[in-house]
Amino acid sequence: MTTFRRTFVASCITAVLVASTGAALAQQPREVKIGYALAVNSHYGAGAQAWADSVEKATNNAFKFKQFPSSALGGERELIEGLQLGTVEAVIVSTGALSNFVPDVGVVDIPFLFRDTQHARNVLDGQFGQDLLTKFKTRGLIALAWGEQGFRHLSNNKRAVTKPDDLKGLKIRVTENPVHITAFRTLGASPTPMSWPEVIGALQQGTIDGQENPVSVFVSAKLWQVQKHLTLTSHVYAPMALIVSPAFFGSLTDAQKTAFIQGAKAGALASRQFVDAVEKKAVDEIKSHGVQVVTNVDKAVFQAAIAPAYKQYATKFGQKTLDQITQTK
Ligand code: PAF
Repeated sequence: MTTFRRTFVASCITAVLVASTGAALAQQPREVKIGYALAVNSHYGAGAQAWADSVEKATNNAFKFKQFPSSALGGERELIEGLQLGTVEAVIVSTGALSNFVPDVGVVDIPFLFRDTQHARNVLDGQFGQDLLTKFKTRGLIALAWGEQGFRHLSNNKRAVTKPDDLKGLKIRVTENPVHITAFRTLGASPTPMSWPEVIGALQQGTIDGQENPVSVFVSAKLWQVQKHLTLTSHVYAPMALIVSPAFFGSLTDAQKTAFIQGAKAGALASRQFVDAVEKKAVDEIKSHGVQVVTNVDKAVFQAAIAPAYKQYATKFGQKTLDQITQTK
């Protein structure tokens, strides 16, 4: 072979290799890191998986979700900051830390505001909840849907709580949420705001006596290992929010944006279905692990004890807003 032919053949091979590597790269799915606080086999995991499946299918696998469950990327505050910084593409979080970023969200954290699960779903899926999602934009976040955790209940290691008086002096971990802090202070407890990843250790060490979360969380986190008493107070409805980073969302085509929105709705629905299923058997499961469960709670007594906090809530969010929620069918 002449030198010219050898050079020509070598150039052709290089060109083919470069072209095929380029095509392979072009076909690589784009990674979507998704972070959340609970285990994969929780309502958060169910929501994340349904979101991933829906987006991956709708975009012909142009995206691949990589899940970071169990607070692997930090607490919920860090996850939300990660969205703003663009270090994580998607998260599923409670409203716990959210109102520090989007203050209007705090209204849904008001105790005894929602009558029952259907009422909460109607509000969040209706105009009010959808308008609330749009408020995230001004705070550097793109919220796409409201999923669910269930109603929060109170657990502790000291005593069976049957009435607000029993809360006196109990150190209860609450989320870093001003509405929840006010509520537990009004009830006479000592609310201790703390990020979720620290809670199990703090309960083990006895630096706090109790915590409050839905039974979906109690089961997922096996809180029976660190808690003796559970009271089904249903004191506040806990949604979960499916949120993406503005930098990531802004880089998508319109069709891809639609895929993420539809996917988030599928994730929200999956979390609700998961919670519906867990709630049917959770109390029996929790009791089977030796936790004493107070089921016959007189909610009206807790509602009355918390009433003084409503003045503060009305000042903060506006009585009209509170009425808009309570008057929703
Ligand atoms: O209590 C909380 O902080 C939240 O409900 C949890 C458990 C992290 C789930 O979002």
